[in-house]
Amino acid sequence: MRRRLVAGNWKMFGSNARNQLLLEGLASRAGGLEGVSCAVCVPFPYLHQAQSVLSESGVAWGAQNASQWPEGAYTGEVAVPMLADFGCQYVIVGHSERRSLFHEDDQLVGAKAKAVLEHGMTPIVCVGESLQEREAGVTESVVSRQLDAVIAEIGTEGLDKSVVAYEPVWAIGTGKTATPDEAQAVHLFLRHAVSARNADVGERLTMLYGGSVKAANAQSLFGMDDIDGGLIGGASLKLDEFMAICEAAIA
Ligand code: 13P
Repeated sequence: MRRRLVAGNWKMFGSNARNQLLLEGLASRAGGLEGVSCAVCVPFPYLHQAQSVLSESGVAWGAQNASQWPEGAYTGEVAVPMLADFGCQYVIVGHSERRSLFHEDDQLVGAKAKAVLEHGMTPIVCVGESLQEREAGVTESVVSRQLDAVIAEIGTEGLDKSVVAYEPVWAIGTGKTATPDEAQAVHLFLRHAVSARNADVGERLTMLYGGSVKAANAQSLFGMDDIDGGLIGGASLKLDEFMAICEAAIA
């Protein structure tokens, strides 16, 4: 059976005081869950806090972005080896907010995924279409173009050590969730695309759905055959809500 994962993406939210309560709650309640792994991807300044509260808890932590370069004169950037210093297990790459607001292209996302793998961490590779693209009927060509660019950099061997997150842009932070059938259709399409290159990797690949997942809709989404968990934005900032989502992913 494929590994189930629920990862929180805190985006640019948090403070020392608020995080402490949330992290301590997760450490005591989420680490012991059987049948699902839980993780939080926090803003860079809070990685040390995440590491100190979550170490030994069974809950993993990670970052939301990283540079493709290992070090250098790149003011304001954060390198993957720095994330390794803070015990990160996951790094989100290619989130639609990075793609649209910070102009990250497919090739750069692939280079970032490669850098993350080179330092022994797991990239959570995000793909997803905009509303305009969905309405134009090009969802499949968009997500396969995005995934192909990553496979071009890391190969199917690299993908085997990665997680893919399908996040339709029109469902992110809008309260408008893809229906389980809509999400499943894209997950199945992506899994077939990977399986066509390497059947074992396609079968094993953990694929998360993201976009307005909440306690109320998590179970129906995670119940679909090719949805192995979720990448959770807003709802990951509320302990009870996030815990209910993690529990809904238990197979
Ligand atoms: P929301 O769950 O807030 O819609 O965000 C989804 C997301 O972007 C996770 O990466």
